[in-house]
Amino acid sequence: MKERFYQRDVISILEFERSELEYLFEITDKFLNYIDRKLHLLDGKIIALAFFEPSTRTRLSFEVAAKKLGADVISFAGEEALSISKGENLTDTIKMLDNYSDLIVIRHRLEGAAKYAAEIAEKPIINAGDGKQHHPTQAMIDLYTIKKLFGAIDGLTYGVLGDLRYGRAITSFIYGISLFRPKKVYLISPEALRVREEVLELLRNKNIVYEEKYNVEEVIDQLDVLYVTRIQKERFPDPMEYEKVRGSYRVTYELLKHGKKELKVLHPLPKVDEIDHGVDVSTYAAYYIQAKYGVPIRMSLLTLILGAKL
Ligand code: NCD
Repeated sequence: MKERFYQRDVISILEFERSELEYLFEITDKFLNYIDRKLHLLDGKIIALAFFEPSTRTRLSFEVAAKKLGADVISFAGEEALSISKGENLTDTIKMLDNYSDLIVIRHRLEGAAKYAAEIAEKPIINAGDGKQHHPTQAMIDLYTIKKLFGAIDGLTYGVLGDLRYGRAITSFIYGISLFRPKKVYLISPEALRVREEVLELLRNKNIVYEEKYNVEEVIDQLDVLYVTRIQKERFPDPMEYEKVRGSYRVTYELLKHGKKELKVLHPLPKVDEIDHGVDVSTYAAYYIQAKYGVPIRMSLLTLILGAKL
């Protein structure tokens, strides 16, 4: 199984088989036991973090993961920070990083940017988010979190609530659960932010039972997992369209009390106003532990891709 990860590009969660993800989760369990120690599995390696778009958790957790493994990190954040602002194109930036590093993590506002980088670079590329399309490592973290909380990903009823149209984390999460056997998936969003047809088509092809809804209240009592995301303001072609849907859904403690006692709320973060603060301190909130798992998941992935001896 290890060899399947070696020097592999990670562009979409859909490139993975269930068994590969399960293997990744096994390795992640091992790393969890050593999370407070500095390891030397990637001594001498250089990881490039190319973040053309803002990020907090994803960039920091890749950096922490790399450093805990003994690798060095070179990074930039934001196009202003480098020669892009002088007009350098993506191709040249990637070629340069390909020369300087052993693996490149890239985030970009354009769909397909990571795939394009993978075509140019000889070194492996990890997609840390491309436009509204994919965010595969976030989906790995989300699935791992569910496995840790419920013992299994199969057989659960999922509600995904939010910006299903422009959100890459929520799209990758839906793709991720489609590799397993969920009992049912409720796709909940305001009309204007409905899930894209290509995602529905994939669910149909994989025989996943799903239903679209406008209100979370209608289904809250059936859910095991409620995955929430913010409205992706920056991806709206027209700011007026954003104003129309702004604040159109909100998860409160009162709402969750109508759900199962074991219900867990996930969120890739950052959250804006879609989750009430009262939820943060409740037993429903799983998003802080989810964020914490970002480090061991990324440690496993880096180790496997770079072929370190485990
Ligand atoms: C997400 C992203 O950038 O797509 N954040 C993250 O990586 N945890 C979600 C978001 O920005 O809403």
